[in-house]
Amino acid sequence: MTTTATRPGDPRPRAAIAAKTLRTDRWWLPPVTIGAILALFVVYSTVRLFMGQWYVVPDYGYLTPLYSPCMFEDCVQEAAHFGRPLPALPWFIPLGAIVFPIVAGFRLTCYYYRKAGYRSLWASPQACAVREPHGKYTGETRFPLVLMNSHRYFFYLAAVVLLINIMDMVLAFRGADGNFGIGVGTLIIMVNVVALAGYTASCHACRHAFGGRLKHFSKHPVRYRMWTFISKLNPRHGTFAMVSLWTVMLTDFYIMAVSAGWITDLRIVN
Ligand code: FES
Repeated sequence: MTTTATRPGDPRPRAAIAAKTLRTDRWWLPPVTIGAILALFVVYSTVRLFMGQWYVVPDYGYLTPLYSPCMFEDCVQEAAHFGRPLPALPWFIPLGAIVFPIVAGFRLTCYYYRKAGYRSLWASPQACAVREPHGKYTGETRFPLVLMNSHRYFFYLAAVVLLINIMDMVLAFRGADGNFGIGVGTLIIMVNVVALAGYTASCHACRHAFGGRLKHFSKHPVRYRMWTFISKLNPRHGTFAMVSLWTVMLTDFYIMAVSAGWITDLRIVN
């Protein structure tokens, strides 16, 4: 029987089986499904980012989360909620150049997506009792996977992006006359912000930021309460991760469709 090391420095051998697996269930279905959804998101967001148009509906204050914040000289005025202090971009850099690296880094290094990515793309480990194509397992101790440890920093940046998304949502309560209004687009943006807030608040790094490294919870009652609250959200992190992926695409698609004139926004108030 051949064996491979379990992890760096671990002397225990790792059992290897000649067959790819002895499992008879459809163990490959979850990784294939999740891999397909992630691929869809990557293709969709890449196409949308390089379109460079139909990202804002000025009449109702809708701005797609894929382009927010838009702070470059070539952003349309109505999308530039923080002004346009940055120079115009060359054609090969999209207007979402500020937000995209943050949300991509946040999702790429997320514990949930790591699990999904390791099983569906990296194939290490692929599933319980399934032989791995990799010769040895080095975990996240070497390049490129060691970069996954940057997740906590992406969490802080993503928290700022979430605040911007909340501001965009407030600005989407607007009618064509400039006064208060609500449309279907407003509701879609709201649902997306709720999903993103759930995803960010249930993050493992968020829980650690609020309740980690404490020796005595009794001396930090506020942080303990927040840690308790986040701990209740945390088991649903995978659900928030998947739901928010779809709501981001739905929100962007709806805003594109209204902006391009393919559909008319159904107004509920004003
Ligand atoms: S663990 Fe998933 S976003 Fe932090």
